[in-house]
Amino acid sequence: MEKLYVVMVGLPARGKSTLARRICHGLKDEGFFAKIFNNGELRRSIYGSHSTQADFYNPTDAQHKKEREQIALRNMGRAKAWLADEGCVAVLDATNASRERRNMIEEALTDHPILFVECVNEDTMLQNICIKRKTSLPEFADYTTEEALESFMQRIYYYESIYEPLSNEKYWLRVDSTANRILEEHALEGSPYYNAIRQILVEVPAPHLFLARHGQTEFNVEGRIGGDPLLTAKGRTQAEALAAHFAHTQVDWVFTSTRRRSHQTAEPVLRNRPNVHTLAMTEFDELWAGDCEGMRYEEIREKLPAVTAGRNANKFSYAYPNGESYAMLNERVKKGLRRALFLAGDSTILIIGHQAINRVILSLFLNCREVDIPYIYIPQNEYYSISVTPRKKIFERIPYWLNYQLTGVRWNVYCCWLSTFFFFCVIMLSLSVLRFGAFGVR
Ligand code: F6P
Repeated sequence: MEKLYVVMVGLPARGKSTLARRICHGLKDEGFFAKIFNNGELRRSIYGSHSTQADFYNPTDAQHKKEREQIALRNMGRAKAWLADEGCVAVLDATNASRERRNMIEEALTDHPILFVECVNEDTMLQNICIKRKTSLPEFADYTTEEALESFMQRIYYYESIYEPLSNEKYWLRVDSTANRILEEHALEGSPYYNAIRQILVEVPAPHLFLARHGQTEFNVEGRIGGDPLLTAKGRTQAEALAAHFAHTQVDWVFTSTRRRSHQTAEPVLRNRPNVHTLAMTEFDELWAGDCEGMRYEEIREKLPAVTAGRNANKFSYAYPNGESYAMLNERVKKGLRRALFLAGDSTILIIGHQAINRVILSLFLNCREVDIPYIYIPQNEYYSISVTPRKKIFERIPYWLNYQLTGVRWNVYCCWLSTFFFFCVIMLSLSVLRFGAFGVR
């Protein structure tokens, strides 16, 4: 069987480890033995907090440079031994930022081909979140938030000072790690596993995604669109029902829009879950109805018949006056979903969105016709469970409200029976008192 080293390349907090995990899981799904060899983990186990200091990464500090090279060599040794044994693909996860370091790798690993994968991430919002996440790892436990941030930014600066993009390596590809897009690739035909790895990198994986709509709002009751309404009592109960449904389900990330109805629906789910990451994203805000915001559908039909006619003619492309169309929504939702999936990686995501937003999110996985997107069914009492990996696509629509109500109804039925029985006893007792006197004694 052919064997391969995959060597990750990229500045810190650019998504290398996320991609390394995806490559590894994807290959395993295909039945190949793949394993990650992470320099950072080895560094922490050997040098501990000494290696957290920014100076450890100073390229002009000879002693530290040597220590870092030794970690890399040791990890390569482990990868080599594993490939010599049972492994198929060893993924070396480290910055490998300079040409000098990559020369060292090419000299040390001559037994199998090497595929370099460079991760680029120009999305500053995601970079900042990744940096925040890195600086809150146990490695920085002895630092204040500011110190950790300063130290990590200095680390990035050192790596930037020696960074050289891939160019002379034999087999390589550059990938936008947040957009699942190959930016450049070089002479890959001879590289084993290339097709499988390429496929893994361009697929949008969503291994565990739950997609719910917010609960009923005051506007829903009145038939009004858009706005920032609050949930009704029924909507709040729906939110409680959703939380009860997920009570025993692992949820790692909850993404909402910036609207109150989305936050209110998320609140019960987040209660007593301090470790869940949350992010409110404008990309998931409901379709902007422009001049029609807050209006009722009937009102639009009467006052602005051209809007209703335009939507009836082509609901996907029609944009509300000074507002959005589904076609416009497509772009921002795609960006939001990419960000959410990048941040969550393999972990479980719950998105609490809106009718039009959820239609577009679903369409991104379903490859349905554009004209059908504005008509996808998005109920407020069911959610979609989505699992998309290179090997499988699973969509399920799961009710959560009915079960919750039924449980409530069952209690109502029990209470009803109990009170009927109680009144029956009272009546019987009263009758016997009337007939026979107290305790049947004359
Ligand atoms: O009616 C609720 C709502 O979320 C509105 O805010 C939004 O304009 C609408 O659904 C989108 O659905 P449609 O495109 O079918 O009007």
